[in-house]
Amino acid sequence: MIERIDELLQNNKAFVADQLRLDADYFHKLAEGQHPEFLWIGCSDSRVPPDRITRTSPGDMFVHRNIANLVVQTDMNLLSVLQYAVEVLKVNHVIVCGHYGCGGVKAAMSGVHHGLIDNWLRTIKDTQDYFWKELTGLESPARFDRLVELNVIEQVYNLGKTDIVQEAWRSGGRPYIHGWVFDLGSGYIRPQTSMINNNETIREVCKFHNGSVGR
Ligand code: CO
Repeated sequence: MIERIDELLQNNKAFVADQLRLDADYFHKLAEGQHPEFLWIGCSDSRVPPDRITRTSPGDMFVHRNIANLVVQTDMNLLSVLQYAVEVLKVNHVIVCGHYGCGGVKAAMSGVHHGLIDNWLRTIKDTQDYFWKELTGLESPARFDRLVELNVIEQVYNLGKTDIVQEAWRSGGRPYIHGWVFDLGSGYIRPQTSMINNNETIREVCKFHNGSVGR
């Protein structure tokens, strides 16, 4: 058990040596600052490492991860990440990436009590209710897969409903928002939405017609 932790630190030393071999100034440049073009909102699942599956490097991607890649309007952590990424780092793309086989989505689909986490997963149950007509026509595992996809699409809408994103769209026509699902079984990312960078696709009731709210 202890050896596994030591291994991580040894790996880190090897990583530093490898990077310095490629570029002696690598860490000096890294320390100068970040200008990421992407914000990644993904699941905490250990099988979905954003940089590995997109072949991006340190500095390319600002990252927020939580169970089932949710955008919850009262989540100060997510909102703070989003505001910083959009308003300060000025990312051009926000990617919500879920994955098939998501334990969070599966737990939300079941009637089993899981404790505290059920509160976090509650919005997935709402999505399931909202699309029940479509979902009830599917057998498992297709129903599970579809709810994973619908959950991602809902989070894209949830991003578009925030005043942070609406204000950025209004003033700068960015960021583009993307809904993706990572297919663990093949390694491929399956896009679920077209590129969205305006509020035309956001449900009427959620548009802020007079600019942002609260400012
Ligand atoms: Co997951």
